[in-house]
Amino acid sequence: MYPENEVYPEKMREILQLVAERAGRYLEEIQERGVEPPAGAVAALDGFLEPLPDGPMAAADVIAMLDDLGSPATMGIAGPRFFGFVIGGALPAALGANWLATAWDQNAGLFAAAPLSAMLEEVSLGWLVDALGLPAGCGGAFVTGATMANFTALAAARRAVLARECWDVEAKGLFGAPEIQVVIGDEGHPSMIKSLGMLGLGRERVLRVPVDDQGRMRAECLPDVSGPSIVCVQAGNVNTGSFDPLEEIIARSHAMGAWVHVDGAFGLWAAASPKYAHLAAGAGDADSWATDAHKWLNVPYDSGLAFVRDPEDLSGAMSLTAAYLPQGERREPSQYVPELSRRARGVDVWAALKSLGRSGLAELIERNCRCAKRFAEGLQAAGFEVLNDVVLNQVVVAFGTAEETQRVIGGIQEDGTCWCGGTVWQGRTAMRISVSSWATTEADVERSLEAMIRVARGKVVSRRQ
Ligand SMILES: Cc1ncc(COP(=O)(O)O)c(C=O)c1O
Repeated sequence: MYPENEVYPEKMREILQLVAERAGRYLEEIQERGVEPPAGAVAALDGFLEPLPDGPMAAADVIAMLDDLGSPATMGIAGPRFFGFVIGGALPAALGANWLATAWDQNAGLFAAAPLSAMLEEVSLGWLVDALGLPAGCGGAFVTGATMANFTALAAARRAVLARECWDVEAKGLFGAPEIQVVIGDEGHPSMIKSLGMLGLGRERVLRVPVDDQGRMRAECLPDVSGPSIVCVQAGNVNTGSFDPLEEIIARSHAMGAWVHVDGAFGLWAAASPKYAHLAAGAGDADSWATDAHKWLNVPYDSGLAFVRDPEDLSGAMSLTAAYLPQGERREPSQYVPELSRRARGVDVWAALKSLGRSGLAELIERNCRCAKRFAEGLQAAGFEVLNDVVLNQVVVAFGTAEETQRVIGGIQEDGTCWCGGTVWQGRTAMRISVSSWATTEADVERSLEAMIRVARGKVVSRRQ
């Protein structure tokens, strides 16, 4: 028999306490440990390479092995000085709620199976719509990330624009359907392009619109479209943080009868700050939106959100009918998402919003943006070239030639004080700093700046072993 069966549930409490103890220690150590895991710890992951065990192992031993071998090889994303890839941390309330929800092991697909999680999705949806300036009553989907949110929202768009031509795409597919024109800026996030491919709209047959030096779609270059058409706009360029001119593009697209979809994976959260909401002005006039709670709301992975102005466009694209599944009076979560079974993402989102409140969310966004500005000022003052207008939380910096910049990025990662990744911005090799964690303080920025400048000037102190 599995070793824990006999002593359940006392054993369960013991395991959770053990995990809390180990995870707590991990989160303390991550404050000072090098952000990038040491090469030796990554090499030691070979310890996981073993044949399928012949028999059971006590849960405490499994957790101990996982922590002893695994934790040292993790990237310090949960710490305060990880600035790669627009990745937020996990707020204490959100992490705690996530653990509790995992203990509940709810299947969030159905109200009947998980009434609490369905309720918290409904509550969070209302709060999100309020915080992000979206139209009251719009439909919402709790998905894995912005890629799936783009996919889900664009599926609703595909349905709606074809329905206007009396074509039921869910029933008949795209075979013989009226052609849909899709427009996107040259700097539209690749996850939208991928979503278009998954939806049969083609990765390559989109009309691309030229962009300016910040990656913003040039509104004057928006092509004329007619018939079923979808215009995809960017609220927050993944490199520069810039926004397409939303008001103008949305108004012109609507005048042409097009559906407008906004990818605001991180940028849409600007709407929650009185100081930065102007960047997202007009976004609420669009027809669908994608964003990530695991980015700027700082909930644990994975947590993306799709919103669609008319909930019926969303449920029409996502609904599932099966005689064995109950269809109640209440909002059925699975009618709005691609999946049926899934975890209770609304719980973490609710906890994050409840713990931050309106003012805490604005403060988080504004502090991160202030930190990004300080990075830019510090690096410029030290003689390095900041390639973007720092309008939000993103900084793109070059340290000289492509080779020199690559050397500095590698050196910073090896130094371990902080972590930033590389990018190519409009032909220039650059380092990208993305400040999106609740844990980052002004002191972390100063410490990271000191390390960046020291490494760029040629002094690397490797923490790797
Ligand atoms: C602007 C933008 N859109 C979409 C995505 C995809 O998000 P996810 O990784 O959550 O699928 C990202 C990820 O960085 C992003 O920055």
